[in-house]
Amino acid sequence: MDSLTPTAAGKTEALAARYGRDAIPPAGPWNETIAGMLGHRSVRAYRPDPVPEGTLETLVAAASSAATSSNLQTWSVVAVRDPATLAALAEVASGQKHIRQCPLFLVWVADLSRNARLGEAEGVTLEGLPYFESFLVAAVDAALAAQNAVVAAESLGLSTVYIGALRNDVERVAGLLGLPPGAVGVFGLCVGYAANPGEVKPRLPQATVLHHERYGTDAEAAQRAAYDDLLRDFSARNEMGPETWTRRVINRIGTLKAMAGRDRLAAAMRALGFPLR
Ligand SMILES: Cc1cc2nc3c(=O)[nH]c(=O)nc-3n(C[C@H](O)[C@H](O)[C@H](O)COP(=O)(O)O)c2cc1C
Repeated sequence: MDSLTPTAAGKTEALAARYGRDAIPPAGPWNETIAGMLGHRSVRAYRPDPVPEGTLETLVAAASSAATSSNLQTWSVVAVRDPATLAALAEVASGQKHIRQCPLFLVWVADLSRNARLGEAEGVTLEGLPYFESFLVAAVDAALAAQNAVVAAESLGLSTVYIGALRNDVERVAGLLGLPPGAVGVFGLCVGYAANPGEVKPRLPQATVLHHERYGTDAEAAQRAAYDDLLRDFSARNEMGPETWTRRVINRIGTLKAMAGRDRLAAAMRALGFPLR
C-alpha cells in the first residue's frame, strides 16, 4: 500500500458522507484542512467541560484573519457566559437549550457603529452608511469572520452550532448586550465539546449548485428527488423523523408563522439605527 492510499480512502469517505455515494464528485486535490472542513457538522448537545484558556482569543484571531470588505472591519463579537443573559438569549431563540448548555456563546454583530463613531469624531458625514449596501457589507463581514472561527474551533476538536434564531428579536438581543445604534446581532454561535458529534449532514449534489458559464436548472428536479431520498434517510437515522429536504424547505419558509418574528426584522433593524435605504 503506498503512502497516499489512506488519504485517498479518507477523501472518498468524506465526499460520500457529504454528497452520498451516488454523487461523489471527480477526484481533485486534498489535504487535512479540506478534510476538516468536509467533516463539519452542527452540534446541539454539549458536555459541561469549559473551553481551554485562550481558546476565545484564538478563535477571534482566526475571525480577524478573514477577508473584510475594503478593510472596513464592520463586525464585532460579544462573548456571553452570564447564565441569566444566556437564558434570555435562549428564550429569544425559541428555547434552544444548547445556548444555555454550551460553555461559550458568541454573538456575531454586524457593526456599523464603530465607523459611525469614527465619522463623528472626525466631523465627517459618512453618506454611504445608511444604505442597505453598508448593512450587507457588515453582515457578510460578520459571517466570514464567524465561519473562520468555526473552522478554527473544529480544528481544535470543538463543535459549534450557529443560532440564527437570535434574529427572532434583534431589539431584545441588542438590549441584553448593550449594543449601540448601528450594531445588530446577526446570529449566535454555540462553542463547546460535543456530547454526541452525530453524522455529517449530506448536501445537494455539486451538479445542482455548481454551474459552468451559465446558470442551468434542467436536471434540478431529478437531483432534488435524489437528495430528498438521501436526506430522508439521514433524518430517520438521526431521530428527526423521515423528513425530506423539500418538506424541510416548505416548513421553514412556507409560512410567516415559521419566521418566528423575523418577518418584522427590517422594521426592527430600522429601530436599531439601520435605515436600509
Ligand atoms: C446563519 C445560520 C443560522 C443557523 N441557525 C440555527 C439555529 O438557530 N438553530 C439550529 O439548531 N441550527 C441553526 N443553524 C444550523 C443549520 O441548521 C445547519 O448548519 C444545517 O442544517 C446544516 O447542518 P450541518 O451544519 O450539521 O451540516 C444555522 C446555520 C446558519 C449558517
